[in-house]
Amino acid sequence: MSLLEVKNLTRSFGGLTALSNVDFHVEEGEIVSLIGPNGAGKTTFFNCVTGIYSPTSGSITFRDEVIAGLRPGRVAEKGISRTFQNIRLFASMTALENVMTSREEEKATEEKGHHLLRFVGISPRANSTAGNLPYGDQRRLEIARALATEPKLLLLDEPAAGMNQHETDGLKSLISKIRNNAISILLIEHHMKVVMSISNRVVVLDHGEKLAEGTPKEIQKNPDVIKAYLGG
Ligand SMILES: Nc1ncnc2c1ncn2[C@@H]1O[C@H](COP(=O)(O)OP(=O)(O)O)[C@@H](O)[C@H]1O
Ligand SMILES: [Mg+2]
Repeated sequence: MSLLEVKNLTRSFGGLTALSNVDFHVEEGEIVSLIGPNGAGKTTFFNCVTGIYSPTSGSITFRDEVIAGLRPGRVAEKGISRTFQNIRLFASMTALENVMTSREEEKATEEKGHHLLRFVGISPRANSTAGNLPYGDQRRLEIARALATEPKLLLLDEPAAGMNQHETDGLKSLISKIRNNAISILLIEHHMKVVMSISNRVVVLDHGEKLAEGTPKEIQKNPDVIKAYLGG
């Protein structure tokens, strides 16, 4: 069953077309990666899906309900949650407080907060100040907070950015574990080892347009993709 269905999505900023007629879908249980050069429109795509931007044209439906144009809090209630390219934590609050202060009105209880920290593998850090956590743990904490709203679809914007190899391997396991808990994943990532090893499908954006879509194997040998992105 198609969870997220995007048709002909276009988003312009003045004279700049950040997304142009993009068709896209995520099925239940899938890990789909969205890749492409910087400025391709990947984050703008997330911003349209999560209600930060309204589409200029096109449709976005989630579980057969129109969500385009809903405000972010409403989109979260429908079951879509996200993390941000630039970590957005409350740096002076503890890890536990950060999880209990999700963007949603409904706050996670302390018990649920501990559960989420355990799930992402940072429970010993519950009372540490978020800003003092190692970088990889901050990324995990952001994921825990996104999970607090109990999404059916989780959007991750460059979660491996700045991570070392060890942290990246751990992140890969965590993403698989999330998917195994019946949460579908939409992943923006430049780390090709991560993308190619865990994705069911990969969609490539270039200059706001969908350049290619396929299995990791198909994408890796697609001449257009190699030219625009992978070859670099
Ligand atoms: N709020 C905005 N106002 C103006 N231009 C924007 C805005 N958001 C994104 N853009 C532009 O849209 C294009 C795509 O950006 P973005 O979606 O962040 O790319 P990516 O995430 O693929 O690197 C870029 O040219 C960027 O400058
Ligand atoms: Mg981006």
